[in-house]
Amino acid sequence: MKVLVIGSGGREHVLTWKISQSPLVEKIYCAPGNGGMSEIAECVDISANDIEALAQFAKKNDIGLTVVGPEGPLVEGIVDVFEEKGLKVFGPSKLAAQLEGSKVFSKEFMFRNNIQTAPFITFEDIEDAKDFLENARFPIVVKADGLAAGKGVMICNDKEAAVKAVDDIMKDKIFNEAGEKIVIEECLIGEEISILAISDGNDSVLLASSQDHKRIFDDDMGPNTGGMGAYSPAPIVTNFLMKEIEACVIEPTIRGMRAEGIPFKGVLYAGLMVTEEGPVVLEYNVRFGDPEAQAVLPRMKNDIVALMLASCDGTIANIALNWDSRDCVCVVMSAGGYPGKYENGFEIKGIDEAQKYGDTVVFHAGTKKTGGSLVTCGGRVLGVTCLGQGIEKAIDNAYKAVEAIKFDHCFFRRDIGAKAIRKIKI
Ligand code: AMP
Ligand code: GLY
Repeated sequence: MKVLVIGSGGREHVLTWKISQSPLVEKIYCAPGNGGMSEIAECVDISANDIEALAQFAKKNDIGLTVVGPEGPLVEGIVDVFEEKGLKVFGPSKLAAQLEGSKVFSKEFMFRNNIQTAPFITFEDIEDAKDFLENARFPIVVKADGLAAGKGVMICNDKEAAVKAVDDIMKDKIFNEAGEKIVIEECLIGEEISILAISDGNDSVLLASSQDHKRIFDDDMGPNTGGMGAYSPAPIVTNFLMKEIEACVIEPTIRGMRAEGIPFKGVLYAGLMVTEEGPVVLEYNVRFGDPEAQAVLPRMKNDIVALMLASCDGTIANIALNWDSRDCVCVVMSAGGYPGKYENGFEIKGIDEAQKYGDTVVFHAGTKKTGGSLVTCGGRVLGVTCLGQGIEKAIDNAYKAVEAIKFDHCFFRRDIGAKAIRKIKI
């Protein structure tokens, strides 16, 4: 079968890498892909958002399965367009993708279906929102309704910051129409984890747990990023907690969507806060996490293509997932300045050397091949991923591999996985 992977980041590289191991696959295309993906697949120059051109490509090239990496095209309805043309595609429909595409939809859905989430109020009127803030308790969280490239959530420590957030989103429209509505919600305290499940609309299987590192600096300081590293499994997620998440979050979500007439197929990503009262949903995403996928998928023993086909065909109930018992750590190497301004075009050296360390794979996120060399082309550049017997060994392996890689103005966090070590030592 020929497979088309849509997207160009580290998540799409690990997906392509994992898909390439499937005996069901004869050829992989990536649109648009990146420097790393071009080594294992044929990259085609079509944007991930050009749904019509992607569908035409899939039709013309007899693509048996299309895998959509990022949320943008899913929220825009790529799955509906492909399915109308008789093309098999892994992911949720446009309506189901609202779980990520609209905070208002997802919060109201959770409320209707008794799924634990932070108490919230939705506002369509800027003055109503500001009136509410007069007597609110702080810190408080202000969220733009629509997609905002991961920047639409503002944690506000006082009234002044919250009013500014409301003005930025609703008056100055810094996220354009994503800010027509907002959600204001209680700020939760706890540790964040990512639990992903694959569903066919009726049944689901849970993937191994993982934890992202969203802030740019060590000890979770500095501004939010797309993710500076991840590890799997997350020791905070005991077997008991995993069962609780399955019974109280994942299953009611899949059941609720089906009952509301919009069955959810594809990856359901629950971003959860583990609080003293149990797991509470911070957000849903409708695709694999980046960089969680880089830490989770190398541990998956199953054929991912068979799993994705089962999601498309409604046969997930027949699948049991098997996991490598080793830990996996992904350290993101970024361009100095990210998530603010940074420069592109620095030559990257040492990837082959890094991959000589046992069970290391370097996933590309922002790279490009020019002439004979590989250069940086994005804020997050590489995801250096290692398996190891125990989290300490996996971390050690990952940082040895990181030290072998060089590019100008490179930056990375030095504490990826440290929380897991603290947890297992308690
Ligand atoms: P979201 O876009 O909803 O995933 O939110 C992005 C990030 O904001 C989350 O990963 C959390 O770190 C943080 N966040 C969102 N909602 C809350 C909340 N109610 N309390 C505390 N932190 C939150
Ligand atoms: N790592 C967070 C996300 O993929 O949204």
